[in-house]
Amino acid sequence: MVEFIYGLLESVGFAHPLHPGLTHVPMGLVMGAIIFRATAIFTPMTHLARSGYHCAVVALLGHPPTAIAGWMDWQYRYDGEWEFLIGLKIVLAVVLLVLLVVIVMMDDPEKPKLDLKSFLYLLALLTVVGLGFSGGELIYG
Ligand code: HEM
Repeated sequence: MVEFIYGLLESVGFAHPLHPGLTHVPMGLVMGAIIFRATAIFTPMTHLARSGYHCAVVALLGHPPTAIAGWMDWQYRYDGEWEFLIGLKIVLAVVLLVLLVVIVMMDDPEKPKLDLKSFLYLLALLTVVGLGFSGGELIYG
């Protein structure tokens, strides 16, 4: 199946990995989510917490295709060869998914405070930083 998809794309002239482009969706939106959250907490613009929450929702929607494309690139371009960075990425991807589900289900963006829910936004940020770092290490060494 993976061979078929990449073969099809190559036959129309697209011979690039699929994952790097998609990574901007969860990475950027988690960064946007924490910036809006912090602005809502530390300034009078509390309504921006809603924007941060919406960023978390779209980050959650973008997570599965990004992780699947990462897995497919790993299978096709790295022959599915096991290495520590791949294991780290799989663990961090699962952690990020859980954090985003909890944020989307439990957060109340109408009352942003420095509490556990805001801490989850910070944890999601640390997780995407880890995913980006391990991805960069895979490519650039
Ligand atoms: C939502 C979760 C994930 C995020 C946000 C993420 C993020 C990233 C980023 C930022 C890069 C560097 C891209 C670049 O510099 O152009 C990268 C590369 C990479 N990631 Fe992920 N990653 C995720 C999940 C996964 C998973 C689950 C796997 C494999 C099981 C994986 C495998 C790879 C591979 C193989 C690369 C090297 C580039 C490529 O051939 O695609 N990633 N990732």
